[in-house]
Amino acid sequence: MPTTNSRADEQAAKVHQPCMLKPLIDPIISTFINNFPDTLVELVKQHGSPLNLVWPHAFELNAQALLTVLNQHHLPGEIFYGAKANKSHSLLGAAVSSAIGVDVSSIHELQAALRSGTPGAKICATGPAKTAVFHQALITAGSLICVDSLEEFDHLQRVIDAQSPPGKARVLLRYRPKNSLKSRFGMGSDGMLEALQRLTRRTDIFHFEGVHFHLGGYGFESRAQALREVSGFIEAAREMGLSPRMIDIGGGLPIRYVEPQSYAHFLEHDNKPSHYYNHKVPEAYYPYGGELTASQWLDLLLGAEHSPGVSIASYLKQQNITLALEPGRSLVDQAAISVFRVTRIKQLADSKSVIFVEGSSFSACETWFASEYLIDPILISSQDSPRIPTQAYIAGHSCLDDDVITHRLINFATAPQPGDLLIYVNTAGYQMDLLENEFHRHPLPRRLTATCCTEGNYRFSPDY
Ligand SMILES: Cc1ncc(COP(=O)(O)O)c(C=O)c1O
Repeated sequence: MPTTNSRADEQAAKVHQPCMLKPLIDPIISTFINNFPDTLVELVKQHGSPLNLVWPHAFELNAQALLTVLNQHHLPGEIFYGAKANKSHSLLGAAVSSAIGVDVSSIHELQAALRSGTPGAKICATGPAKTAVFHQALITAGSLICVDSLEEFDHLQRVIDAQSPPGKARVLLRYRPKNSLKSRFGMGSDGMLEALQRLTRRTDIFHFEGVHFHLGGYGFESRAQALREVSGFIEAAREMGLSPRMIDIGGGLPIRYVEPQSYAHFLEHDNKPSHYYNHKVPEAYYPYGGELTASQWLDLLLGAEHSPGVSIASYLKQQNITLALEPGRSLVDQAAISVFRVTRIKQLADSKSVIFVEGSSFSACETWFASEYLIDPILISSQDSPRIPTQAYIAGHSCLDDDVITHRLINFATAPQPGDLLIYVNTAGYQMDLLENEFHRHPLPRRLTATCCTEGNYRFSPDY
């Protein structure tokens, strides 16, 4: 795999930073892109486009930052990496080297986590529709099972009773917070109390460890409220003779992709129908320029009031409860970049252009928002391009009309040329591989892991 030592000023390719939604970039990745663009051109030549480069050092920094907040509050936390955020195996490896666990939602994620070296006891399984095979594998591995419903409770009980000899399942009960009454996930109060009663009757096969919830959105206040709500179940469980030890608050910690001020400026001034080739402003975006980092979010949650005069951190300590978190997106903040090679730039009416790239919108998407991955790409021009300013949107190579990566018209100071690269930074959190497929029989994009890295020495190896 290539290693490069040549100096920045010897590079033939030139890097052009975007002028609008400039991505925040990890310093090691930024140095790599800015000082060694030839290596990127070479990697795409060898491995094709789009190409995903994964950076596990970023994951490790994110994990350390969250662990530091827990330490500052003197709390024994458990972090389970929400492995659904990215299919990279080296990021599962980064969870192991960070000494944290993994949150899995399928038997395949479970097997991948075990193969990567995560001990079964540090795995927690979420999701509302676990199969018997998945349940069995979780019991064998000694993993935590978040029971989503009374129906799942019965199912799990039947699975254990059918085993010979019967195993024992470690369980959390998933609560449906009051602000998500219509959610199909978790149990309301009645269901939780009934599940606790059933647990008291089958201590031979269930080891009850605590309660769990996961909420949509990215606010810490909704988690603080839900945590206040579940403390009643901790108390009720103890009164019934059970011994809960954990409250798992799920994921939803935020990432900051761009500076908050430039994001606010964009929303106010540069997000009008005329800024989109199809004249449509998306209804919702991920909060790309959020005010809080994941660590600040966790710190605020722990400092929030649990009851008059008692913070959530104090409550957890007083009750001897471990706080568990399942961050997905926020643990992979900065942990990948996605590189697309330009095939063609085509002139359209109104002096606008469309840039076609090798790759599709499935490889840089924002799946859970009816919008797109908003951050501007960085242009790497592989030849001496004339500095002709161009306004263009960016489309994939398929024949689907909707295969558009960036509907927004991007202002390029230098017009991209065929063979140039567009780099979308910070794509590890669901954007790069959640929807990837082999449409038109294009092979799946390659994923390479960067093994860090002193300036000028980068090693990339396949990340299977
Ligand atoms: C149960 C559960 N835990 C954790 C996560 C991870 O959330 P995020 O990537 O927003 O941190 C999800 C995401 O859907 C989830 O459903």
